[in-house]
Amino acid sequence: MAKLHFVDEDRTFEIKPGQNILEVALDNGIDLDHACGGVCACSTCHVKIREGFDLFPEAEEDEEDQLDNARDVGLNSRLACQCVLQEETGQVIEIDVPFWNVNLVQEGPEAARESH
Ligand code: FES
Repeated sequence: MAKLHFVDEDRTFEIKPGQNILEVALDNGIDLDHACGGVCACSTCHVKIREGFDLFPEAEEDEEDQLDNARDVGLNSRLACQCVLQEETGQVIEIDVPFWNVNLVQEGPEAARESH
């Protein structure tokens, strides 16, 4: 198990192998958008992983395509629903949730484009 620390809220939760970041956030009341329900069909669950980036498998093409629609994407950007912890580790994973995430379902793709 590892610890997931949501930096902005300064709250820390356990994450077990097989769980993804979105699941842990929602189970613990962290307000993280997830317009597509966690199936890699939006970019609203965009997070930035400050520490522990390598504990998750590399992003696949679908995820990278969705991240192209997210605002302010950086090298440490991921979709929370696609970040499944792979193995036991005692590490603390530091997560930033960008507050400016654009909800494509509510606002449409034009909003995302304008926000770049
Ligand atoms: S919730 Fe839609 S891609 Fe993660």
